[in-house]
Amino acid sequence: MSEPTSVLFVCLGNICRSPLAEGVLRHLVQERGLGDRFEIDSAGTGDWHMGQPPDERSVQVASAHGITLGGRARRVRREDLDHFDLVVAMDRENLRDLQRLADGSGPRARLHLLSDFDPEADHPDVPDPYYEDLSGFETLYRTVHRACESLLEQLAPPSD
Ligand code: 4NP
Repeated sequence: MSEPTSVLFVCLGNICRSPLAEGVLRHLVQERGLGDRFEIDSAGTGDWHMGQPPDERSVQVASAHGITLGGRARRVRREDLDHFDLVVAMDRENLRDLQRLADGSGPRARLHLLSDFDPEADHPDVPDPYYEDLSGFETLYRTVHRACESLLEQLAPPSD
């Protein structure tokens, strides 16, 4: 069997957006019986929240949709850019930070924005929801879910 496809989601704090995307993609992959074919993780460009569990509001919206979030916040490392096949940034600032981390040395990973995969995206950035209320997190969930469905369709077309 071939190596699993590995996907790393990256945001600023690794407590709101990227753990939600990690949980949603993992859920979609498991629903389709493709768990063995994917490795999915998340990380942050900043280190303020290292070691913390996902933000309670991300946990709550995920749970409302039958998805359990896990993991602890960690900072993205240069090695991640060689390990993962696909690194998906939530906004352009995250992407710039990843490009800086790659430092022109040709990372193995393909670097993308999540909005690259969102068929309904009207803005390149998935906005930082940290100062939003729960309704902002529900909007975040819908955006992330839509983009992850389309990402998975590209990585594992239904006929695969
Ligand atoms: P995230 O959200 O990048 O989606 O995890 C944030 C979490 C914390 C902060 C900013 C964004 N912060 O400034 O502490």
